[in-house]
Amino acid sequence: MRMTVFGTGYLGATHAACMAELGHDVLGVDVDEAKIKSLTEGKVPFFEPGLPELLQRNLDSGRLGFTTDYEEAAQFANVHFIGVGTPQKKGSYAADTTYVRAVVESLAPLIEGEHLVLGKSTVPVGTAAQLQALADENTNDGASIEVAWNPEFLREGHAVKDTLRPDRIVLGLQEGGNAEALAREVYADALQQDTPFLVVDLPTAELVKVSANAFLATKISFINAVSEVCETVGADVTALADAIGLDERIGRKFLGAGLGFGGGCLPKDIRAFMARAGELGADQAMSFLREVDAINMRRREKMVELARQELGGSLLGRNVTVLGAAFKPNSDDVRDSPALNVAGSLSLSGAAVTVFDPEAMTNAQRLFPTLNYAESIEEALRGAEIVLVATEWKEFQELDPEWARTLVAGEPVHGKPIVIDGRNCLNTEAWKSAGWEFRALGRG
Ligand code: UDX
Repeated sequence: MRMTVFGTGYLGATHAACMAELGHDVLGVDVDEAKIKSLTEGKVPFFEPGLPELLQRNLDSGRLGFTTDYEEAAQFANVHFIGVGTPQKKGSYAADTTYVRAVVESLAPLIEGEHLVLGKSTVPVGTAAQLQALADENTNDGASIEVAWNPEFLREGHAVKDTLRPDRIVLGLQEGGNAEALAREVYADALQQDTPFLVVDLPTAELVKVSANAFLATKISFINAVSEVCETVGADVTALADAIGLDERIGRKFLGAGLGFGGGCLPKDIRAFMARAGELGADQAMSFLREVDAINMRRREKMVELARQELGGSLLGRNVTVLGAAFKPNSDDVRDSPALNVAGSLSLSGAAVTVFDPEAMTNAQRLFPTLNYAESIEEALRGAEIVLVATEWKEFQELDPEWARTLVAGEPVHGKPIVIDGRNCLNTEAWKSAGWEFRALGRG
């Protein structure tokens, strides 16, 4: 099949490359010339394991191309995916749908014949219907667009696998919509592997996505709330999560207690969900998400507080090393990153903060230029009075605590070097027996 993908950010670039990998002819479209140039040259402008190889392979095969020309896109195919961003509006919790609207508004007058628009972006419920109206207003005689919604559930760091082998495909259709047959053709490969395919109405499809993310955020904040109680009574939240996670109804996934969630999706999506529910007069229904958000943000403060306590009550002029800047491992994304937020707060409290991250250094430096950025773990650890592990990169989990001890400043308060495990990802016993004062979130 021939298709276009509007928006070549995280979602769009991955989707375009994966659709080409499945054998389709794909044109990626963006208004950002620099992004299009980079992708055309086979360079992925963000870190995503496996994507550079996939991009190059499909550029070479001729099945994948990129353009900034909407006219070309309108003529290239009759099926168009939308994967542009819906960021949080400035000064509000609501999602900004300007970019999604702009795609439809610009594309509609250029098309001839019957076209299908499949929205993948995460949007407030009701957006797809508005886009249909916008498309109807802007198409010329003899041309038509059907808008359907096909939410995307990919995780950063697993984006290629999640797109090629999704755990479900959801398609939202309007009454009398014809998109199902085309969508089945697009996803024929996954459907042959018995991937569940759920056809629902438009608002349900829009809500599926935000509900999934709200549930994941709630699960993380649930365990982090329990973590706060564990801290007061000296209980161990990781052992607790193991125990409750064995109940199949609960499950262990997303019960990772620690610094909480960040990134470009979960924080923004729960806020947009609250805002949309408010607009619809159902604000009470989603008000618990305010608490989910608050619990999450409190963990960052707790980590800073713990560092202050361990250093005897003041951070002023103390050498603090933060390992991790990305919002999660296998990503260079620092949007709303708990790790970078903690590093920034420590610095604003007067600490001399050194940060190291295997992939997110450039993005972190751009967002927070005043921190000190080390070129290696070794450089980051040298002279540190306290070490905070804020992103659970494999490199940090596999760090040899004996070796690390030889690098740090030594014995600031306890007569021992101090480490705080903000992600409950280190081997507690190994660190303790190497002579470290070991602290973690939610563990007594
Ligand atoms: C999320 C959804 O998982 C994905 O389905 C959706 O399409 C986009 O949003 P992503 O933002 O890539 O994906 O990250 P995810 O793996 O969900 O992690 C989100 C945050 O939660 C990270 O900061 C992570 O560190 C944190 N997290 C995750 C925890 O704090 N504890 C956990 O147990 C799991």
